[in-house]
Amino acid sequence: MIALGIDTSCDDTGVGVVRDGEVLANVVASQTELHAEFGGVVPEYASREHTRVIDGLVERALDEAGIPARALDLVAATYGPGLVGPLLVGLSYAKGLALGLGVPFYGIHHLEAHLAAARAGAGGLEPPYLALLASGGHTHLFDVPREGDYRLLGATRDDAAGEAFDKVARLLGLGYPGGPRIAKLAEQGDDRAVPFPLPLKGQEGFDFSFSGLKTAAARFLEKGYRKEDLAASFERAVVESLVQTAVRAARKLGRDRVVVAGGVAANARLRRRFAETGLELFLPPPELATDNGAMVALAALERVRRGEPPSPWTIEARPYAPLAEASHALDVE
Ligand code: KG4
Ligand code: ZN
Repeated sequence: MIALGIDTSCDDTGVGVVRDGEVLANVVASQTELHAEFGGVVPEYASREHTRVIDGLVERALDEAGIPARALDLVAATYGPGLVGPLLVGLSYAKGLALGLGVPFYGIHHLEAHLAAARAGAGGLEPPYLALLASGGHTHLFDVPREGDYRLLGATRDDAAGEAFDKVARLLGLGYPGGPRIAKLAEQGDDRAVPFPLPLKGQEGFDFSFSGLKTAAARFLEKGYRKEDLAASFERAVVESLVQTAVRAARKLGRDRVVVAGGVAANARLRRRFAETGLELFLPPPELATDNGAMVALAALERVRRGEPPSPWTIEARPYAPLAEASHALDVE
């Protein structure tokens, strides 16, 4: 089966073509430059830019995949969560394309797509395992005892992990998106030089909290710490929080495998650190970690494999789509 997937949940237009589990094409048009001068994503500009590029991007993806549109068996798009205008562009385009081709349409929950990307490289990954999702908008830790049974163990109480990277990068004058820029600067810094506290140290549960690190970073910057050291020490604090919480959960529940997904899964320190824990690790390839269209196609193909029906044509963009909606695949207790 060949699926075309579209993600326009935020400021990247992503279009991917996937045959069964194999990614044939995955093109992403970034709007980073467009929003740079505003220090954040301007939703109306994002919508317009998605509208401007989406048709050409779909053509390019089909071209790279080496297949004509009529070879597609289904079309999928993210319906939420995300920015409503941008979501509407991708969703409407995808529905129109599916209708025009006479193929089924699947509306996909953004987090379901991130998880599908992480599972994609893991050939036959079977539950039980833990799943950690860390992106610009989410930080969630799930236990997955059975296929399709997602139990929320903990989540961030304030900022998402990626959001913390973005905010601290802004503080350091690095621009957006912050994650890769902090990671780069951190390479030249001492990760023990700045005494960031470990968030929620000593807690019993599995929640996260990153806004304190952001406040601490502002204070340390005023005190005159080097930016390189700040970046390295901050990155270490975020990574330790994510890894140590996941390891604690794994011990408590007797799990020995963990799937890590979302933009922050692209972080090299996080990947290295997880590799040291002895847990068996499943990560998306870096190009499938941040937002893209292939992960949406992968999630749709997983749905087909589970025998789930296509979405109704009336499915709407849902900016705050709750996790429990991510088909039964993300059924949260
Ligand atoms: O999943 P994603 O592309 O979009 C959302 O759904 O939010 O994640 C984007 C987030 C941004 O906050 C970005 O700073 C972060 O992922 N990110 C990283 C890295 N690459 C992207 N954070 C840390 N290290 C990275 N290498
Ligand atoms: Zn995302």
